[in-house]
Amino acid sequence: MTDIHKGLAGVVVDTTAVSKVNPETNSLLYRGYPVQELAATQPFEAVTLLLWHGELPTADELAAFEREERALRPLDPRTLALLDTLPGTAHPMDVVRTVVSQLGACDDTLHGPGAWTDPELDLARARYLFAQLPTVVAAVQRRRRGLAPIPPRDDLDYASNFLWMTFGELPSAAAVDVFRVSMVLYAEHSFNASTFTARVIASTTADLYSAVVGAIGALKGPLHGGANEAVMHLFDEIGSAERVGPWLDRALAEKRKIMGFGHRVYKRGDSRVPTMRAALEVLLEESGDTGLAELYETLEREFVARKGIYPNLDYPSGPAYRLLGFDTEIFTPLFVAARVTGWTAHIMEQAAANALIRPLSAYDGPEERHVPQG
Ligand code: CMC
Repeated sequence: MTDIHKGLAGVVVDTTAVSKVNPETNSLLYRGYPVQELAATQPFEAVTLLLWHGELPTADELAAFEREERALRPLDPRTLALLDTLPGTAHPMDVVRTVVSQLGACDDTLHGPGAWTDPELDLARARYLFAQLPTVVAAVQRRRRGLAPIPPRDDLDYASNFLWMTFGELPSAAAVDVFRVSMVLYAEHSFNASTFTARVIASTTADLYSAVVGAIGALKGPLHGGANEAVMHLFDEIGSAERVGPWLDRALAEKRKIMGFGHRVYKRGDSRVPTMRAALEVLLEESGDTGLAELYETLEREFVARKGIYPNLDYPSGPAYRLLGFDTEIFTPLFVAARVTGWTAHIMEQAAANALIRPLSAYDGPEERHVPQG
């Protein structure tokens, strides 16, 4: 009988130099650097260059990238028109996926022989998506509230500008920093489902936009990126800390998955959680929302005690994004804006040493049979 690795669990499909997840030591390295150190010290723009190029930028390289990124932020009129065309009821992930697809269709550099996989052009496309996604996500958030988009500001860094375009004001410097930290933590995580999807598409030598569109589709699901949205729906369903016990009894009896807990790779806790938990604490203290803090602590304590399954990054980031003021349905698009860095780093790595990704399957359908005659 052929060995089946359902869900590719435990299967090593390729090498990568982008990041290393080590569940034994509960660590995550981006290009060799512990993610906690990067989150403590680096602007998101610098982490992005690290993921793409393998080294942290010099001050001049970072300044040049910041100038370029700021110039690439404004939306094309065709993107604004698309946002106005899509129904207001569409899920923001569907809107963001559709916008990225249109950005690909409108990119003239895709025309011509070899243009789909040209390394220089791919880097330019990655930079373009990195700069555009915050403007898109902010516009989607504002549209949900019946508000006009706010144009980007070229005097603000990535994190500050993202929040400015969304809310038209800046929160405290500490809150902006929480947002930056969340972007750094969400940026990259080896061969997760969306990154693998991106690599599969890149392996066919399709273009980078197609790979990112596919990755966004994979990220939407609540078993993956959609969990940060799903965590907040759970919090709303439970309501308050004193209801956690009975709610959990019922949910576990119904064999429900508790969103924001568990991980395919980490079995003793997610390496990113302590950093994001500390960032959430800043917002909880600023807001004075003791109800949310108690619900968070109680659900974690009771679920870990019953199942021995630990929170993943989506558990602290969901409440953090709520406290920053985002709608729940915008949480996963925020993940897209961060993870586009890791996706594009992997797409470029795949292209540089490509082999078509094409696994085998074991057939378990009917034996050969024949269409009845007459
Ligand atoms: N709630 C309840 N039971 C769980 C959970 C959970 N969150 N996670 C795992 N289990 C149980 C599962 O029911 C199974 O039990 P049994 O052996 O009795 O059938 C056992 O643990 C193994 O779980 P699995 O689903 O087979 O393991 P997996 O490696 O395929 O699961 C996972 C990983 C992330 C899909 C799963 O833990 C899960 O569904 N978690 C909730 C969704 C979530 O938070 N996803 C975000 C993942 S991390 C960040 C990201 O990618 O965005």
